[in-house]
Amino acid sequence: MQRFTNPRDIFHGKGALEALKTFEGKKAVICVGGGSMKRFGFLDRAKSYLEEAGMEVKIFEGIEPDPSVETVMKGAAFMSEFEPDWIVAIGGGSPIDAAKAMWIKYEYPETTFEDMCKVFGLPKLRTKAHFCAVSSTSGTATEVTAFSIITDYEKGIKYPIADFEITPDVAIVDPELAETMPKKLVAHTGMDALTHAIEAYVSTARSAFTDADAIHAIEMIQSDLVDSYNEDMTARDNMHTAQCLAGIAFSSGLLGIVHSMAHKTGAAFADYGAHIIHGAANAMYLPKVIAFNAKDETAKKRYGVIADYMHLEGANDDEKVAALIEYLRGMNDQMNIPHCIKNYGADSYPTEQGFVPEEVFLERLPEIAANAILDACTGSNPRQPSQEEMEKLLKCCYYDTEVDF
Ligand SMILES: NC(=O)c1ccc[n+]([C@@H]2O[C@H](COP(=O)([O-])OP(=O)(O)OC[C@H]3O[C@@H](n4cnc5c(N)ncnc54)[C@H](O)[C@@H]3O)[C@@H](O)[C@H]2O)c1
Ligand SMILES: [Zn+2]
Repeated sequence: MQRFTNPRDIFHGKGALEALKTFEGKKAVICVGGGSMKRFGFLDRAKSYLEEAGMEVKIFEGIEPDPSVETVMKGAAFMSEFEPDWIVAIGGGSPIDAAKAMWIKYEYPETTFEDMCKVFGLPKLRTKAHFCAVSSTSGTATEVTAFSIITDYEKGIKYPIADFEITPDVAIVDPELAETMPKKLVAHTGMDALTHAIEAYVSTARSAFTDADAIHAIEMIQSDLVDSYNEDMTARDNMHTAQCLAGIAFSSGLLGIVHSMAHKTGAAFADYGAHIIHGAANAMYLPKVIAFNAKDETAKKRYGVIADYMHLEGANDDEKVAALIEYLRGMNDQMNIPHCIKNYGADSYPTEQGFVPEEVFLERLPEIAANAILDACTGSNPRQPSQEEMEKLLKCCYYDTEVDF
């Protein structure tokens, strides 16, 4: 038996934020990040719509990018004191993911972070509050997914929390919120979305329900991402829908080792002054993982289907896989994303010598590889890598060398 689970309601299109006016409840907490939603007026609008619905509203603000366990615990304590019956998270993946984890802790105060990370092991939520997610980036699709990514900075590891219990009750996909994204954020979040769709399409947990969403998302992202990056606002609006479709695909169809590797490298070099931003990590690793997974016959065929939908040239599946890899690398070039960790600058742009020194990478490699294998996303990848293969794959992602194993 498989399961296909989505929010009860997805309000979408320009003006969808106004759906907040129709919510029923007494108290709502709005969870928000560092300032972009406030600066562009969306926070005030959300607050006034909820007040119009007759609710008392409090704001928990300042959730940092790649949120920490500490922030989650702080937010949960805030909720326990205020006792909201609605949690409304507004912003990118970071504040929405943090709010999802806060929700678990609010409903079950005795839960530890370790408990939360047991895959599909959460108790029933919604005994205290319902959850609405309003996304302002076009990538993570956390507004529709069963996942939340929280970083343990002591260990330098991102942990995915995965359970259909944290699939939001309501998603608001209003493209107006995405129009204020700076170009770099468009590039990274857009490549994240494309990775979601491609990984979901070859995942061992895929189904006809998830395939339909994944393929349509891939077609839309091919048509609109680079234009959106170049400030075409119609394309930007389309991308907000496309990333949500990709989210619907991977929430039930799951992901693969591009994400395992991105989760385990993201914060692994934070002591060298930067993160490898999630979407940029995916954009660099995806072509390598496609080459690795294509050694599996079923995966190869499915990459061939993707290439067909993208109208790429190729007389057979091997040629189509090669064309797909080249196309994706071309997208990185068009959006100023490097091809490998070695050339990944602290500002995320391509540079001769990136912020991760070679000897530090090699020293940490065995542990990163072991952690990536243990990541929740590895189980649904079409090929299960050994420790040796994962280390080789990560090396290819560091040096931009060809994957031939
Ligand atoms: N839950 C999931 O299923 C899932 C999937 C993929 C990634 N993630 C996680 O999500 C996080 C990344 O989320 P993200 O990529 O959405 O970015 P983010 O939420 O970390 O935001 C990045 C920056 O962009 C700003 N920003 C957000 N929206 C904006 C807008 N409309 N205009 C201007 N600035 C804006 C924020 O203030 C912040 O400074 C990572 O922690 C990643 O691991 C989660
Ligand atoms: Zn992702």
